This record gives sequence, C-alpha cells and structure tokens, in this order.
Amino acid sequence: MRKLIPALTAILLLGTRLSAQDWTVPDDRKGRLSTFAFDDETRKTGQKLYTANCKSCHGIPGEDNWLRLVPPPGDPASEKFQKNSDGEMFYKVVTGRGQMPSFRTVLSANEIWALISYLRSYNQGYVQQVMQLITSSAYPDAEIRIALAWNSADSTVDISATAVSEKSSVAVTDAEMQLMVQRRFGHLAVDEPRNTDSRGFVRFRMPAGLPGDTAGNVLVMARFTDEETFGSAGKDTILRAGMPSFNESLVAPRAMWNTARKAPVWIILTYLGGVLIAWGFIMLVLLKLRDIFIIGENSTLNNK
Ligand code: HEC
Repeated sequence: MRKLIPALTAILLLGTRLSAQDWTVPDDRKGRLSTFAFDDETRKTGQKLYTANCKSCHGIPGEDNWLRLVPPPGDPASEKFQKNSDGEMFYKVVTGRGQMPSFRTVLSANEIWALISYLRSYNQGYVQQVMQLITSSAYPDAEIRIALAWNSADSTVDISATAVSEKSSVAVTDAEMQLMVQRRFGHLAVDEPRNTDSRGFVRFRMPAGLPGDTAGNVLVMARFTDEETFGSAGKDTILRAGMPSFNESLVAPRAMWNTARKAPVWIILTYLGGVLIAWGFIMLVLLKLRDIFIIGENSTLNNK
C-alpha cells in the first residue's frame, strides 16, 4: 500500500501532463478540405463508419459516454473536439496518437471525410468549405494538382502542376500560370505570367519586402491564365514569404485612420459645451412655461 500511493500519484500526474499537451497538426495540413460537399448521404455513410470504428472509445456523440482513457478520447459533440478544423480532424484520424489508433490503412480518404461530415452534424455553427477541384478540358478525366514551395534563399516560389487520373499522372506542360498574393483589398499579381516547362514546373520571383502578417505569412494563389481550358479554380496556400508586419492600432499617433488626432480634447469640450448650452436653454424655456402656468392658476383662484 505504501508503495502504491506514490505510484498511483505518478500515473495520475503523468496522465494530466499528457492530456495537457496539445495535439498540434502541421500548418500545411490544417487547411486541408474535403473534395466533396457534405450531405445526408455522406452523413449516413459516416455514421455507419463511426459506429464500426470509433464508437467503442468516443461513445455516442452528445451523450458524454466515451471510454475513460487518459488522455481522454472526448465526446465528438464537445466544443474541444469541434474546435478542430476539418484538416486537423482528418490529420488526427489518419495519424493517431497514443491510444487513438491510426486509420491510415483502415479507412480511405473519402471514408474519413464522410466520417467528418457525420461528426460535423453535431456542430450547429459549422459551415463547410469544399476544396476547389481543378479540372481541364486539355486533360479529360484528370484532376489537376498544384503544389507550391517557397525557397527563402532566393525568394522564389516553385510551382508544379500535375494532371492525376485513376490510371496515370502526367505533368501539365506549357500552360501559362499567374501567381498572386492576397492584399487587404483584392489580389496583387506578383511577377509576370509564366509557362510550365516539360516537367510541369514554373518558378516565380517574389518581390522583396512584401508585407505579411505578424509572422510574415502571406496567402499565395496560383491560377492558370487560360480560364477557358482550366476554369477559374486554383490553389491557395499560406507561405512565409513576406516580411513580418504589425498593423498599427487606430489610436496610434501615426495610424492613417487615427481618431484621437481628429478629435482632440478642445473639440470634444467645445462640442459638449454647445450641447450643454442648447439643452440649458430648452430647460429654461420649460421652467418659464411652468412659471406662467402657476401664475395663471393663482390669478384664476384670486378672481373667484
Ligand atoms: C481505441 C480507442 C479509440 C478509437 C477506436 C478511436 N479513438 Fe479517437 N481518440 C482516442 C483517444 C485516446 C484520443 C485522445 C488522444 C490524445 O489526445 O493523445 C482520441 C482523439 C481523437 C481526436 C482528436 C480530438 C481532439 O479533441 O482534438 C479525433 C478527431 C478522433 N479521436 C477521431 C476518431 C475517429 C473519427 C475515430 C474512428 C475512425 C476514432 N477517433 C477512433 C481513442 C480512440
């Protein structure tokens, strides 16, 4: 018994440490989206898969009757569970961790998306985003996959375009592409449009000193310029290709929309003074009316 108590405490402490550790998903996986829209059919498929593969540990969603493991599997209807993005859920189901098994070889990607569509039915605030599927009349029956890579050494972005069908995977050659970055208002084209080479590669030069967010991230968008052949869908990726920038607050002395400078103390005081005088005058008129009324009452009483 003497030895048991410290051992139990250690196990409990280890448990809380493990559960306190966040399960972080690589940045480039968080934004992954389903290629199909979730509907009643996908939810039904997902429910069957859930009952067969997940219910033993995660319980019935919304009933909080999950298996008491450490770290806890958790209820799929809970806020903690639903806070995962679609891509994070997908990653966690594929890779697993600790007692959560990896389903990489058990479920297909479409089956996992069907599962997620079922789990999302317990989240009323959920709005699905579907991955843009790029197709082309030049590559019938194939899906065009675009990959972007940032080379910080020479400030370039490498793009590769591949047409993937069930039977084969070929490079998308001699197709003109345009690279854009998202700005506060609209998109900004970077570099000139360029054509993919015989291996489906094309390289764009990023402008120096492009402002990003506080970490230097910018949303980069690759599009084919020939919309008739390739459609308007493209690939959007966040790359750390910009300079870290800090947006000034509205009251910072030099902010363009600084409000403190446009409403200095003397303007506020003058305005308040004017308002007070106007209201004072109105009150004065009302008091005078009351006086007149009282005098009138008195004189009618005296006349009687
Ligand atoms: C053997 C038990 C077990 C099974 C079966 C299981 N899970 Fe899990 N799951 C866990 C545990 C334990 C965790 C917590 C892992 C951690 O935090 O390290 C977890 C975590 C998760 C998470 C992350 C939850 C969060 O809050 O971030 C997701 C998503 C998930 N499971 C989905 C599924 C799905 C979908 C299935 C079925 C395909 C499934 N799990 C099957 C035990 C299980």
